[in-house]
Amino acid sequence: MQQKVLILDFGSQFTQLIARRVRELNIYCEIHPYNSTKFDVDNYKAVILSGSPHSVRGESAPQPDLKKIKGKKPLLGVCYGAQYLAHFFGGEVGASKTREYGRANLSFVDHTSELFDGVDTGSQVWMSHSDTILHLPEHYTKIASTHDVENAAYQIEGEETYAIQFHPEVYHSTDGLTLLKNFLVNIADVAQEWTPDSFVDTTVAALKEKVGSDKVVLGLSGGVDSTVAAVLLDKAIGENLHCIFVNNGLLRKNEFESVLDQYEGMGLNVKGVDASQRFLDALKGESDPEKKRKIIGRVFIEVFDDESHLLTDVKWLAQGTIYPDVIESVSANGGPSATIKSHHNVGGLPDFMKLKVVEPLRMIFKDEVRRVGKSMGIDPELLGRHPFPGPGMGIRILGDITAEKVRILQDVDAVFINGLKAWGLYDKVWQAGAMLLPVDSVGVMGDERTYEKVVALRAVESTDGMTADWVDLPYKFLQETSNKIINNVKGVNRVVYDISSKPPATIEWE
Ligand code: XMP
Repeated sequence: MQQKVLILDFGSQFTQLIARRVRELNIYCEIHPYNSTKFDVDNYKAVILSGSPHSVRGESAPQPDLKKIKGKKPLLGVCYGAQYLAHFFGGEVGASKTREYGRANLSFVDHTSELFDGVDTGSQVWMSHSDTILHLPEHYTKIASTHDVENAAYQIEGEETYAIQFHPEVYHSTDGLTLLKNFLVNIADVAQEWTPDSFVDTTVAALKEKVGSDKVVLGLSGGVDSTVAAVLLDKAIGENLHCIFVNNGLLRKNEFESVLDQYEGMGLNVKGVDASQRFLDALKGESDPEKKRKIIGRVFIEVFDDESHLLTDVKWLAQGTIYPDVIESVSANGGPSATIKSHHNVGGLPDFMKLKVVEPLRMIFKDEVRRVGKSMGIDPELLGRHPFPGPGMGIRILGDITAEKVRILQDVDAVFINGLKAWGLYDKVWQAGAMLLPVDSVGVMGDERTYEKVVALRAVESTDGMTADWVDLPYKFLQETSNKIINNVKGVNRVVYDISSKPPATIEWE
C-alpha cells in the first residue's frame, strides 16, 4: 500500500505549496478540508495542519477536534495549525504587538530536537501571522525562537507532535524542506517512494483494472496534460484508446500537422479532424470575446460528439484534469467549497459526456505531470511547450475573426516564437504570443500612405498564470523580430511590445 500524508486544510493560500514540497520529497500526500468527511485519518502515516487566514480566537475559526489525531499520528502544525494545536489544548494565543510578515531569522534553536536536525541559529524563515502563541500548554517545549516570536516552534514531550509558527513550505524559509524532511522521514518514518516511475507503474496498473477491455475516447489538444494522460492510457490499454485531435483553425502555424505527426510517431491511436472551416463559419461576424469563447467551446463539443459517434461501444471519456482543478478548498465562511470546474450542462449533454470519466492525472500537480511525461520518454520539447489557450488565436485576434486575420497572426506568431527559440529565450519565458489589434495604422510606402495592421507581442513570466510579469526581452531581439515581421508578414506595418503586468493586465488581451 502506498504510504500517504494527510494535509488538513484550514484555508491558507500556501496549502497547495505544502503539498508540492511534500511531493518534492517523493512522498505522496493529499489535501482535505479540515471539516470534510471524505477521508479517514487512519489511512495516513502522518498529518500536517495548514495555516489559515483566521485567528483561533475568531468566531468562524476552523475548530476541529484534534484529540482524534494528536498523540495517535505523527503531527506537524504550521502557522495557524501551530496556534490551534496550542490553543485547543489550553495554551494562550493572542494578538502580536506587530503583525509579523516576511523574513525573520532563528535566534534560538534546540539542537536536541529531531525536527531541527541540520538547521542552525540564523536560518531564515518566513513569517505571516498577526496572532502569536503567548503561553504553551503543559508538556509543550519551545524548540525555536526568532527575535520577535518567542514560541516559533515547539514539540510535545513523549509524542511525535511538532509545530512551527513560520511557513516551511515557502521558498524564503531556507531550511523549510529540511524541516519537512526531518518531520516526515526521520520522525514519522514515511517512505520516500513516490517517484514519476512509481506513479507510472501504479497508474497504469490502476487504469488496466478500472477500464478493463472497454474503449476510451480522449481529446488531445497538443498540450502537456492531455498528451501525458494519453500516453499513460496508451500504456494501459493500447488500441482501445481512441484519441481525437481537432484542428479548430486557430492553432499556431502548422501546429496541427506537426503535432499530429508527433502523436503518430509516439504510437498513439489518434485521429486528426480538420474542422477549421466549421469554426470559422460559426465565428463569422462575432467580435464579443466571451461569445467567441462560447462559440469555440460549443463547436468543439459538436465536432467531438460527431467523432465519438463514429466509434462504437465507447464506455469512457478520458480527461487531462490535474490536482489543482479538483482540490476542494476551504471557503471564507469556513465550509468546504468545491472548485471542480463544471461542464456544459445546458441544453442536454452531448453523448460523449454521458460516458464514465477517467482522469489519470487528477492527483498530481503540473510540475509532476512534466516529470511523469519525461519518465515515459515524451519529447522534452513537447513537455516544455508554453501554455496555449483552448480558443487559441480566436482570443488573440481582437474583434471579429476572418481567415485572412488568422493567416496574418499565425505568421507573426511564428516569427516571434521561432525567434525566441533561436535566441535561447523560449525556455526562459512562461508564455508568449502575438495579438492582432483591431486598428489600422498609417504607413508610408514611397509617396503613398497605407493603412495596415498593428500587432502586439506579449511575453510573460509566471508560475501558474494567476499573476504575471512582462519579460524584459533584449532590445536587439525585439528589433530583429519587429523587422522580420514587418518585412515578411503582408498586412502588418507596426509592432508593439506589451509591458503590462497582471494584475491588472491579463495575459490574453481578450
Ligand atoms: P489570462 O488572460 O486570464 O490568462 O491572464 C491566464 C492563462 O489562461 C489562459 N487562458 C485561457 N485558456 N481558455 C483556455 O483554455 C480560455 O478561454 C483562456 N483565456 C485565457 C491564458 O493563455 C493564460 O495561460
